[in-house]
Amino acid sequence: MNLRPCAIFFEMTVSEVRQRYLDFFEKRGHTVIPSAPIVPENDPTTLFTSSGMQPLVPYLLGQPHPEGSRIVNAQKCFRAEDIEEVGDNRHTTFFEMLGNWSLGDYFKKEQLAWFFEFMTSKEEGLGLDPRRLYVTVFNGDTESNMSADTASVEIWEKLFSEKNIDAKYIELDTEENAAEVGMQQGRIFAYGAKKNWWSRAGIPTKMPAGEIGGPDSEVFYDFGTPHDTKFGKECHPNCDCGRFVEIGNSVFMQFIKQKDGTFAELPKKNVDFGGGLERLTAAANHNPDIFSIDVFNDARMETNEKTKLFERKNISPQEYAEEFTEAYRIVLDHIRAATFMLASNITPSNTEQGYVLRRLIRRAFLKSRRIGAGEKIFVDIAATYAKAYKNTYPRLTQNLEKIQNELCKENEQFSKTLAKAIKGLWKLFNDDSKDLSEKMNGQILFKFFTTEGFPPELILEQYNNYRKQEKLS
Ligand code: SER
Repeated sequence: MNLRPCAIFFEMTVSEVRQRYLDFFEKRGHTVIPSAPIVPENDPTTLFTSSGMQPLVPYLLGQPHPEGSRIVNAQKCFRAEDIEEVGDNRHTTFFEMLGNWSLGDYFKKEQLAWFFEFMTSKEEGLGLDPRRLYVTVFNGDTESNMSADTASVEIWEKLFSEKNIDAKYIELDTEENAAEVGMQQGRIFAYGAKKNWWSRAGIPTKMPAGEIGGPDSEVFYDFGTPHDTKFGKECHPNCDCGRFVEIGNSVFMQFIKQKDGTFAELPKKNVDFGGGLERLTAAANHNPDIFSIDVFNDARMETNEKTKLFERKNISPQEYAEEFTEAYRIVLDHIRAATFMLASNITPSNTEQGYVLRRLIRRAFLKSRRIGAGEKIFVDIAATYAKAYKNTYPRLTQNLEKIQNELCKENEQFSKTLAKAIKGLWKLFNDDSKDLSEKMNGQILFKFFTTEGFPPELILEQYNNYRKQEKLS
């Protein structure tokens, strides 16, 4: 009997991708440095480390780094501004950013070639199919008098042609235009400052004096999922439909903003590369859902086991599936972020980092109740993360008991807050001396939100319950 050979598919793990990246750049003269803490040490301007370059700013400004001019690491990052995006296939608040830096050493030619090699090499990198890679470059910015990055275009053309890929160059400039005209079989796309300029403050005109930045070149992995016209007529690398996921960004950090609003060249030209570890792992496994990577496996199972599907009216199965998926991803993400924060000695409070942590736990609490899993699973989810990161971040295991206690404490406190707020809200609904518009007055609801910490979506849910009961009686 002739047996057909089975296709054996080995999934790459987060640890493997991290290690491969560090080894790849170490072999090319970089020194591996540890991740800086998630709360910046000498930077009171921001609550969390949100990119790999943040702890390296003094060195990008010209101060010599004790480890030399080529540095590589995996940095724990937290981006509060992405909180509303979590729930789709690719956003998380907490993530690890793989980063390599040239501090006045190599520049565009080496950087783009190395990252391309890392992505495509089966032996040393991720073995990605180069035909699934699309790149973007800076199209210039008249307002800040910055010219287009034609050097990067030439480098990318050469790199793709070495793989026998015809790399057509297309100027898309704005997302609006891109959604209108589409990709036109291009491979290298130029966008304006909004998409291909990087500084911590955003586009050149938003940068304060003294801030550093530069043009960047991003790489997108094409998961080949169908385009959703909800996000625009045509798909393109920066489209939000989820087909293309950004997996790496090479920033050519060479400018500093002056007091008079103009830009000066930094004493040395730097490279600041950042690539989301979770996304790179998803690309290596050709799975567009980053919540399917190994570090989430046990947490996903834990959540799925406890989940109860509710009978839902007025909502299609498709809408229900979407809402459900979004909710469970939020739970996985927020509790992972909370676990890392608690391991860094942040505790829930009403100010600064503690407030963000509180918001994460409370948001996860509501979403977890929504999918019937409840908040009690948080302690088990935290344990799955301690296990998943046992070797890389042992602090999670060392502090697990404390982390779990804090999660329970915060859950209990929030349960009480909720019960009290629900009581107050129903008292208001049942108050016959006020008419409906007065009861649902924005100011009153805002008070519930700010003083009772009662989220608007819950106010609405309680109100709908009240209306339902009213109709029944
Ligand atoms: N600073 C860039 C980013 O955060 C690249 O590291 O995307």
